[in-house]
Amino acid sequence: MTEDARALTGRRIVVGVSGSIAAYKALILVRELTSAGAVVDVAMTPAATAFVTPLSFAALTHRPVVTDVLGLDPDSQIAHVELAEAADAIVVAPATANLLAELAAGLVDDAVSAIVCASRARVVIAPAMDAGMWTHPATQRNVETLRGFGYLVLEPEVGSLASGLTGIGRLAEPATIVAAVERLFARSGDLEGLRVVITAGGTREPIDPVRFIGNRSSGKMGVAMAEAARDRGAAVTLIGGTMSVTPPRGVTLTEATTAAAMRESVIRAAPAHDILIMAAAVADFAPARPSGRKIKRDASGLDLRLVPNPDIIAEVGEMPADIRPFLVGFAAESDDLEANATGKLRDKGLDLIVANQVGGPFDAIGSDDNTVTVFGVEGALTDWPMLPKRQIAERLWDLIADRYRRDDPAPTRGRKAATRAPRR
Ligand code: C5P
Repeated sequence: MTEDARALTGRRIVVGVSGSIAAYKALILVRELTSAGAVVDVAMTPAATAFVTPLSFAALTHRPVVTDVLGLDPDSQIAHVELAEAADAIVVAPATANLLAELAAGLVDDAVSAIVCASRARVVIAPAMDAGMWTHPATQRNVETLRGFGYLVLEPEVGSLASGLTGIGRLAEPATIVAAVERLFARSGDLEGLRVVITAGGTREPIDPVRFIGNRSSGKMGVAMAEAARDRGAAVTLIGGTMSVTPPRGVTLTEATTAAAMRESVIRAAPAHDILIMAAAVADFAPARPSGRKIKRDASGLDLRLVPNPDIIAEVGEMPADIRPFLVGFAAESDDLEANATGKLRDKGLDLIVANQVGGPFDAIGSDDNTVTVFGVEGALTDWPMLPKRQIAERLWDLIADRYRRDDPAPTRGRKAATRAPRR
């Protein structure tokens, strides 16, 4: 058995089947996933049940098939939520043009779209339809949207179609789909054994009990880094400041809304982690003397004196080598990106710095997309286009893991895994 094939053993996989003539091939797919050791549950749209019976899938999986989400069957209502949470991956095969449109729009009116929408598992989609439908701009736009969500959309194959015509639109072969799922997990385990701590979001520096100085950071980049690391097998601690996104499940979350609280959490966590990703926008200044009482309106105005906050990552950079984690900083620069970012890399003692331009026509803060350049001591290491933050996170982890392991004597484990206390 290859490394990739072993990747499916014990994995919970939901196969979502929609109403295409290719639905019969989903039976072969389910059988192959089950043979590879996966625990497979099947969900079907109402139209899919017109092509293949739920009984056929139940016979292969020895598990109930979810076909209803609208409330006729109370068991199914719970089943789709449970499956969404339990799934390690969801494979939608075949996916009709209609289902692609539903998923892209966030419409949820059948068991398959409900499970995909409710889940945070990795999603693989194998479309099957008539060539005209596949090449229609609406379908292509929906596919782009779904790829933007981080879903893996496989290309349909060229061949004879149910319409009698020959063209693109055939469902990818079950073996191709299984291989794609295996690769997902083979890669998704590559951070196994690593303990990573990630900061995300902004901070709020109190002026008085109700007012603060804050920033617009959404936490999206740090959360994308946390989700990607979690999905690739790392033990993740997320130190969250003020965020506009929901923290991911499956990570250890510590809240730290001021720079001082964030410093305390990071300094405490750093020695027990292999890698620190400092994606938070930590306030550089805080009011010198926050008032314990609400400051009254005053016609003469208010003078606020700000004092510098401690530079957290620089402090970690000075830790002794045996406890200092691998350090990745982020830098938002409005001018002289390269000089400023590499200056920070040197001054703060970082291993890598992820720099992005702010203040121009594109604003990365709060956006779902970003364009970044990563610098190491030797200079720029990347030339990436504008990408969704989750895709940037995946590329960053490829780079960070590679760098981290270059001088690690035990390449598949984190240095701290064996010696430190287990995850809290
Ligand atoms: O604010 P600056 O551009 O210097 O931030 C660069 C890096 O330093 C970021 O990774 C940020 O999280 C970190 N930082 C920090 N403590 C601060 C300010 C920034 O760790 N007080």
